[in-house]
Amino acid sequence: MSDGARWNRYYEAVRDRPPRDTLLDALDRFSAEGIPAKDEPPPFALDLGCGDGRDTIELLRRGWRVLAIDATAEAIARLLARPDLPEGALLEARVERFEDFQPPACDLINASFSLPLCEPARFPAVWARLTAAIRPGGRFAGQLYGPQDAWAGRGVTTHDRTAIDSLCAGFRAEKLDEIVEDGTTALGKPKRWHIFHLVLAKLPACAFN
Ligand SMILES: C[S@@+](CC[C@H](N)C(=O)[O-])C[C@H]1O[C@@H](n2cnc3c(N)ncnc32)[C@H](O)[C@@H]1O
Repeated sequence: MSDGARWNRYYEAVRDRPPRDTLLDALDRFSAEGIPAKDEPPPFALDLGCGDGRDTIELLRRGWRVLAIDATAEAIARLLARPDLPEGALLEARVERFEDFQPPACDLINASFSLPLCEPARFPAVWARLTAAIRPGGRFAGQLYGPQDAWAGRGVTTHDRTAIDSLCAGFRAEKLDEIVEDGTTALGKPKRWHIFHLVLAKLPACAFN
């Protein structure tokens, strides 16, 4: 079965699900700061591993401009075919992998349950590029997986708590929730999850001096 066909089963299983809590948390923090602002160009978000677009649609609905990428053509086709895609949406959607992606400067990087699927050996360079692209005051929202996750060692990138703290250097952690629990996958299979739910605010450059 191709990657696209495998992911199609996931997209079917999660269709019509609401946006992720980490995205909503980040968007509420931006709203409290007056972003998006009337009479100013819309803020710009990258949605990485967007799937069929549950988060992309929320960003567009709230007045953001979005560049959405996903490794599968099926995800991008589903996103572009969504009936709830707002008319005139400021959306660019591309089939592209994190590993090859050169992120443009942005206000928010959203990566819901996707970045752990980056090739482990390439994750450090990917993370360095992503975090450099976020403007000071901008945010990262998404999930990373820990070593107790059942998929650890099976081609998935994991980080222990110490490594997560290193990844957060240069950010203020507004949300850093570590969850270890026995649950199920979107397809209903039992699985142990070890997840870090993250909302990170990028510190001003002077904080590094
Ligand atoms: C678990 S789904 C999450 C989808 C969506 N963000 C959500 O929260 O429902 C992971 C998505 O990441 C995509 N993906 C996996 N590896 C990727 C890679 N190396 N580069 C870009 N996207 C990737 C998959 O195609 C899939 O759509």
